[in-house]
Amino acid sequence: MLKKQETANTGRASRPFLVLSMTIAAIVLTACTKKQAQELGPDPDGGDEPVTVTNVSYNNFAKALLEAKCSSCHAPGRGASAKWTFSGYSSVKDNSAKINNAVLVIKSMPIGGSLTAKEIELLDAWIKRNTPEN
Ligand code: HEC
Repeated sequence: MLKKQETANTGRASRPFLVLSMTIAAIVLTACTKKQAQELGPDPDGGDEPVTVTNVSYNNFAKALLEAKCSSCHAPGRGASAKWTFSGYSSVKDNSAKINNAVLVIKSMPIGGSLTAKEIELLDAWIKRNTPEN
């Protein structure tokens, strides 16, 4: 008789605890999802608008691309700076024909690396739009 009561009590007591645990789990999961969404959000330097073939510029795309994929060899004082020195907007604009040829036509650059299809598309669009700075 006593044993039966105990079992019943245990059953009643564990239900609110289960609900509470599930609520906490749901809150934690939601918080993680929100945090990831923020981390994957647009680059603060790129502004709010996504970069497309119609708005691509030096400041929203080309500068960061060249820094990431070319400056290891073409920054001032680097190994290949005699061929082309990457030192800001005019150093790119003034050499856009050479860059176009090396990266998009004969595809000899970047040595030891590669551009994604999206990067190639945007770089091509940027050069065709006459290399706008902004
Ligand atoms: C690992 C080093 C390295 C990287 C990374 C690299 N280059 Fe080069 N680049 C060279 C060397 C070495 C040369 C000279 C030899 C040659 O022309 O093939 C050169 C030459 C060039 C030239 C001159 C070509 C000519 O016609 O005279 C241009 C323009 C150029 N690179 C652009 C780029 C661009 C743009 C990137 C990035 C997308 C890049 N390079 C990445 C090493 C590199």
